[in-house]
Amino acid sequence: MLRAKITGTGSYVPETVLTNADLERMVDTTDEWIMERTGIRERRIAAANQGTSDLAAEAARRALDAAGLAASEIDLILVATVTPDMLFPSTACLVQGKIGATRAAAYDLAAACSGFLYGLSVANSHIVSGQYKNILVIGAETLSRVVNWKDRGTCILFGDGAGAVVLQATKGNSGIVTTLLKSDPSLWQLLCLPSVGSRIHASPLDVEASMHTIQMKGNETFKAAVKALDEIVDETLGAAGVKAAEVDLLIPHQANIRIIQATAKRLKMPMDKVYLILEKYGNTSAASVPMALDEAVRTGAVTPGKTILMEAFGGGLTWASALVKW
Ligand code: UT7
Repeated sequence: MLRAKITGTGSYVPETVLTNADLERMVDTTDEWIMERTGIRERRIAAANQGTSDLAAEAARRALDAAGLAASEIDLILVATVTPDMLFPSTACLVQGKIGATRAAAYDLAAACSGFLYGLSVANSHIVSGQYKNILVIGAETLSRVVNWKDRGTCILFGDGAGAVVLQATKGNSGIVTTLLKSDPSLWQLLCLPSVGSRIHASPLDVEASMHTIQMKGNETFKAAVKALDEIVDETLGAAGVKAAEVDLLIPHQANIRIIQATAKRLKMPMDKVYLILEKYGNTSAASVPMALDEAVRTGAVTPGKTILMEAFGGGLTWASALVKW
């Protein structure tokens, strides 16, 4: 039986650091409030000449290096993002050009913060079906470009970055065990970016109303996230026949330390089995899980034989999980 195995990971963050102290000078907030309510201390901001595809391409190059694979051997590039360079061509096509993946197909996938895990699930199906052997799945965002820097309820949360994995066909026992994808449109208005799209076109009035920036009802989103993630981790473990105690590492979407603690509590998992990059990078949406995974691999927190549970939640609403035997 064919399985999809993550054979290389990579990530990239821009150099510029925006600290909570910097935000104190921009909006009515404090480092203490941000740390206590979110767990975030700083985040990265893309340079003026960097688009999402630049961050994604660098993460992809690092993942290819780690996998020992040439870009020309990639069959498919999937980029999960809500901040594409432009509406079209896809960011995946731009990445394809930047890394020289000459024979790949490429497309973008929009599932907000759950996008990387949606991408991993789709890529898994492409591999298990025998259609493709080598796939790059990338989560990449430049959220700093779509944040309302006057809204203290959102601007403290988000940051820029990219994470990538190389997924390859294998006949071994390690690889993706199961993935679950969920969505619920009834609460889409909790978290959205209304413009620019076909419905709201960023007229001067729309811009004045900040329709071109992230709109979030934070507290309601928080509650929906905790409930959805509680349910999906239970369902994932049940589907795989794995007990929570058998999970070696939880790699959660890095949105808010209190949401992550709630999921860990549900799993009766001590926080030292949860991989965190939130404090350094904030919420990087689709990039957050692959960035955390890459750091976990490079620091030795993920080693062969370990069972890894990944989960994410975001706009849509969407939520998703993946259980991986490393
Ligand atoms: O990535 C995918 C999904 N996104 C999320 O998962 C984000 C989920 N939401 C959250 O992380 C949290 O809801 C926030 C961090 C955004 C907000 O935390 P909260 O504990 O839910 O606060 P709140 O919105 O209930 O606001 C509590 C108070 C309010 O003041 P009053 O009305 O009690 O006087 C806010 O105005 O905190 C105030 N507040 C702030 N104060 C200082 C809101 N933002 C700030 C701020 N600094 N940055």
